[in-house]
This record gives sequence, structure tokens and C-alpha cells, in this order.
Amino acid sequence: MIRSVVRGTGSALPRRIMKNADFEGMVETSDEWIAQRTGIRQRYIAADDETTASLGEAAARAALKNAGLTPDDIDLIVLATSTPNNTFPATAVEIQQRLGMRHGFAFDMQAVCSGFVYAMTTADLYIRGGAARRVLVIGSETFSRLLDWTDRSTCVLFGDGAGALVLEAGEGQGTIADRGVLASSLRSDGSHREKLYVDGGPSTTGTVGHLRMEGREVFKHAVGMITDVIEATFTQAGITADDLDWFVPHQANKRIIDASAKKLGIADEKVVVTVDLHGNTSAASVPLALSIAVADGRIKPGDLVLLEAMGGGFTWGAVLIRW
Ligand code: UT7
Repeated sequence: MIRSVVRGTGSALPRRIMKNADFEGMVETSDEWIAQRTGIRQRYIAADDETTASLGEAAARAALKNAGLTPDDIDLIVLATSTPNNTFPATAVEIQQRLGMRHGFAFDMQAVCSGFVYAMTTADLYIRGGAARRVLVIGSETFSRLLDWTDRSTCVLFGDGAGALVLEAGEGQGTIADRGVLASSLRSDGSHREKLYVDGGPSTTGTVGHLRMEGREVFKHAVGMITDVIEATFTQAGITADDLDWFVPHQANKRIIDASAKKLGIADEKVVVTVDLHGNTSAASVPLALSIAVADGRIKPGDLVLLEAMGGGFTWGAVLIRW
């Protein structure tokens, strides 16, 4: 059977680092509050010339280099983002053009912080359905453009960045020993809209709007939703938490990550945490964490890796991959 095998990973971050202490003159907060409540120590903020398209392109080029491939080898680009360069065309198409690709097809996926998990699942279905052989899956965001910089309850949490990976069709035996995407589970529930949304858009206000979040409410739902969807993925694959080599969760809050790992019985040393380095980068957070853990040698071919994300909508999901 066809499996979607990871061939390479890459990431890109803006030039400017903003430390927690840099907020101290802007809003009533402290490095201590941010670090204790979230685990975040710094985030990257895009300059005017750094956009979702330019960061996504840089991450894509890094993933292609890591895979030993060129844009000519790619059939499809799926970009997970909630901060496109323009309302349309899709930023994925702009990245396609920036990569010099005149063949294949490209589109954006919008599932906020779960975007990358949705994009991976979609790319896997295109590959297993035979509609694409090699797919660039990118998560790229410039959430700094959506932030209300006077709202301390949100502006300290988010940052900008991009991560990408190349998925390629490979042969599998249909067992969990196969390399590639082994199982995935997606969910959404629009009744939670008001807990995390942007108060603008082309069809309502005609403006871009600002991110609004009831953080405590999101927190309350996060662990239960994350563990439900992961348990569904475990059931699909016929595995338990003990079989995992790495857990790469959405990097929003270290306390949510710790509580989810504990509830699932995943040992601390198997959890990849990078939220301290780049804050919550929404759809870019999982591929950023992945590419950091691949680059530093933690994730190796053959490892069983679980991805998870949860965000606005609410949307949530998990993907299990044999690296
Ligand atoms: O990507 C997926 C979506 N996002 C998330 O996963 C975020 C989920 N939520 C969270 O991570 C946490 O709820 C937060 C980090 C947002 C907040 O942590 P919390 O422990 O839930 O704090 P809280 O909202 O209960 O607020 C505690 C206090 C409040 O003051 P009072 O009402 O107790 O006087 C807030 O006003 O902390 C205050 N506060 C701050 N204080 C200093 C809120 N933001 C800040 C701040 N600095 N930046």
C-alpha cells in the first residue's frame, strides 16, 4: 500500500527576537508571569519585508534542501495559515511562484493552530489517493499582525515563523512498522467560536481585525480535546503511549503540553518542547518543533512520532507518523 513518508524538514524565523522583558514597558506584565504561566521566554516578530509567504518560502527551501530535492520534484503545496499575505490569491500559490514552480497545484488550509495537522492529513490523502507524489506541507504565520498590542492577555503569547516538510509516496506493508503517516484524527466544533477568534474579516467588517481570546476557557477545554483525539489515533493504529518515541504537540503553553502528556502517560523525556524559543506560532508551531527536533538529532528515521494541535474554531487533531 502507498504511505506518505517524510523526506525532509525545514524552518524559518524572522530576524527580530522579542524577549518577555521587552513587554514590560508596553503592557502591565513581567517576564516571570509570562514564563511561569506559559513557558514562553521569547518570540520572533516579522519586519515589514518578512511575510507569511517569505517565511513559508524560506522554510520550504530548507525542507527541500534537507530532502535533497528541488521545486521541480513537488506536485502539490499545502500551506496551513490564518495570516495569508492577501485575502486572495492563496499564499500557497505565491509560494509556488516564489519557488519558480510553473507546474502542479497549491492551496491554503485554514484551521488556525490545528492547520498543520489538517494539512498533513490532507496531503496524506492526496498521496494515498494517487493525486500527488510529493507534497510540500508548510505552516507559516505572521500572527504579530493580528495582535492587539495593548491586550496583555494575548499579545505576549504569539509569535511569527514557519516550518515545512516534504511528504513523498512510498511503499508500505499496511502495518505500524511502515514508515510514513500511519493514522490521523481531525475534529472541529464551531460552538466554541467566541472563545478564540479574530474580530474582523472581508465579509463582515472589511478589516483584518484583532485576535480575541478567553484564555482560561481555551485552557479548560484543551487537555480533554487533545487527549480524546490522540486516543482515537492510538486506537486506529493499535498502539499505546508506551510505543511512542516522540510527542510533538502544538506549542501554545507548556502547562497544556505537560498536562496532556501526563494524562496520556507519555514520559517527559519523549516530549518536544520549543514554545520557550518562539511562543505560539499557530499553524507553524508543530513543523517548527519538528524541524528543530530533527535538526538536533532527537527524531531519527524509524521513530514513532505523534503530532497534535488544538486551536480556534475549535479545531483539533492528531497525526501518527513513523519517521
Ligand atoms: O493555540 C491555542 C490557543 N491558545 C491557547 O492554548 C492558550 C490557552 N490559554 C492559556 O494558555 C492560559 O489561559 C493563559 C496563558 C492565556 C492565561 O493563563 P491562566 O493561568 O489561565 O491565567 P488567567 O487567564 O486565569 O489570568 C490570571 C490573571 C488575571 O488577573 P486576575 O483576574 O486574576 O486579577 C489576568 O488578568 O493574570 C492576569 N494576566 C496577566 N498578568 C500579567 C493576564 N495576562 C497577563 C499578563 N501579565 N500578560
